[in-house]
Amino acid sequence: MIQDKKIVFSGVQPSGNLTIGNYLGAIKNFSRFSDDYKTFYCVVDLHAITVRQVPAELRRRTYETLALYMACGLDEKKNTLFVQSHVPAHAELGWILDCYTMFGELSRMTQFKDKSAKHSQNINAGLFTYPSLMAADILLYQTDLVPVGIDQKQHLELSRDIAMRFNQIYGDTFTVPEGYISTDTMKIMSLAEPTSKMSKSDPNQNAVVYILDSKDDIIRKFKKAVTDSDSEIRFSEDKPGVSNLITIYGAFTGKSVEEVEREFAGRGYGDFKLAVGEACADGLAPVREEFARLMADKAHLEAVMKSGADEAAYYARKTMSKVRRKIGFVN
Ligand code: TRP
Repeated sequence: MIQDKKIVFSGVQPSGNLTIGNYLGAIKNFSRFSDDYKTFYCVVDLHAITVRQVPAELRRRTYETLALYMACGLDEKKNTLFVQSHVPAHAELGWILDCYTMFGELSRMTQFKDKSAKHSQNINAGLFTYPSLMAADILLYQTDLVPVGIDQKQHLELSRDIAMRFNQIYGDTFTVPEGYISTDTMKIMSLAEPTSKMSKSDPNQNAVVYILDSKDDIIRKFKKAVTDSDSEIRFSEDKPGVSNLITIYGAFTGKSVEEVEREFAGRGYGDFKLAVGEACADGLAPVREEFARLMADKAHLEAVMKSGADEAAYYARKTMSKVRRKIGFVN
């Protein structure tokens, strides 16, 4: 098999319900690569167990995350869709890369600091080495491009550093990946506290819009969204709530900030929030319907996982034999 297309890899954790932040910041962009790249999209269950999971829920969410990939427009014939733990080479390369990743580097990761503050009873070694496993995911496929949300930028930089370090020691082994961080919808903020990121684990459920929320829920949440005391619909740093709504409206309608400002000039927040809610609910309706259809056919999802894992393993094998040889493992 000759592979001349460039490679795209990305992963989503099967933990928690995905938000419109995950959708706009990452998943919605995935399908734009399907034609011109060889694409691998992975459900990263090994990463998910760095925080405690309820087994039955983890299993269900693994199916759901795969179904969501497909519902967001990823055709299983044009993209390799698979589950991380189905390709053991991820864990194997993860261990190897642990030995080329520095304690100091991992200590500086802001996600580790945040998560260890949040899960102070379970600061396990996996949580700490999470980024070297992520590097393994990426480097295993000789990935050129990694579409991720802005919050993963630091992990991506570390993956590049690990690749370069390894190449420096052993000669060219890994492609050094580039990040693809979409700039138009970089960061979707909480509806209740628009200075912090919309997070799927926010205890305030009104602050978070999930991809699979019903239309009524979506509209209700946007109606409650925090704005500010004046009434001008204008994008500005001192108006984080309104700016966030403008970003979301623009993302779902394809309109620029200026177009949105013009459309709502002289109109009140009530009107505006309803319009954002409707644009969001309507934009997500096809995803929701397709998701329900896919989840009703487990056997099909399992067939997709299986053929995805077979395809991924084929590529992984090539990288692993190179890595083993370079390091000096006996064949
Ligand atoms: N860490 C990513 C996140 O939390 C998920 C992930 C794991 C990932 N491995 C990856 C993303 C490889 C891109 C590439 O969102």
